[in-house]
Amino acid sequence: MMLSLNRLETFYGETQALFGPSLEIERGEVVCLLGPNGAGKTTTIRSILGLTPPRRGTIRFDSTDITRLPTHVIARLGIGWVPDDRRIFPSLTVARNLQIAVKKTAYRSWQTKEVFEIFSALEYLMARECENLSGGEMQMVAISRALLGAPGLVLFDEPSQGLAPKIVQDVMRTVRRLRDEGISVLIVEQNALAALEVSDRVYVMDRGRIVHEGAAAALLADSGLRQRLIGI
Ligand SMILES: Nc1ncnc2c1ncn2[C@@H]1O[C@H](COP(=O)(O)OP(=O)(O)OP(=O)(O)O)[C@@H](O)[C@H]1O
Ligand SMILES: [Mg+2]
Repeated sequence: MMLSLNRLETFYGETQALFGPSLEIERGEVVCLLGPNGAGKTTTIRSILGLTPPRRGTIRFDSTDITRLPTHVIARLGIGWVPDDRRIFPSLTVARNLQIAVKKTAYRSWQTKEVFEIFSALEYLMARECENLSGGEMQMVAISRALLGAPGLVLFDEPSQGLAPKIVQDVMRTVRRLRDEGISVLIVEQNALAALEVSDRVYVMDRGRIVHEGAAAALLADSGLRQRLIGI
C-alpha cells in the first residue's frame, strides 16, 4: 500500500471539515477523488501534506506514519503535489522553478530531459519568467516540478481547471505515464469523466465523508449511479 488514510478528522479552527474518511492507494494505482464543492477534497490533500494535519486518524505513506510530520519532511519522503493554484514562483524563470524542485528520495529521480520528453514545449520556455506563461504552460511547470521531486505518489488538485481541452488531454496522458512508471496518483477533479477514464478506482466524497468507493470503469459504465453520485 502506498497511501493509507484511516478515519481522518480535520478541522479549520473549530469547524470540522473531514468526518472520518478512509482511503487507500496501491503502488502504481491511479485513484480519483470526486465530489461537490466543499466536500473536503482539497482538505484531504492538505491533511496528507501536513498543511492542515488531522486532529484524529492516521496517515501512512509507504509504511511510514506521516500523520504528525511537518510538510517539508513529508515532501522529502516522496509525495509530489500539483496544487489547485499551481503555486510556482512567478518572478523566477521556468529553469529556476524546475531547478529548485529537484529532490532525492527513495523513488526514481527524473532528469530534466525526461520532463521535456513529456512536455516538449517546456524546453523552449526555460528562460521565460513564470508570470508570463499561459495557464497551460504553468500547469506543465507545476507537474514537472512534482516529477523532479522524485515522487512515489503525486497528488493532483483539479489539474484541468481553466485549461483548454487539448491541454487537459496532455495532463491526463501524463497521469497515465506516471501509472506506467509505477508512481501512485491521487487526482481530485471537477472534470469527472476525464479523471475516471485514467483512474483505476474512485472515491466520492460529500460533506467530509466518503459516500462511494469502487472501480472507475464501473462508475463510467453505470450512468444511473453516476447521475446520483456526481450529477453527470
Ligand atoms: N481555510 C479554511 N477555513 C475554514 N474553512 C475552510 C477552509 N478551507 C476549506 N474550508 C471548509 O472546509 C470544507 C471542505 O472544503 P474543501 O476546500 O476541502 O472542499 P473541496 O471538496 O476541495 O471543494 P472545491 O470543489 O470547492 O475545491 C468546506 O466546508 C469549506 O468551507
Ligand atoms: Mg478543492
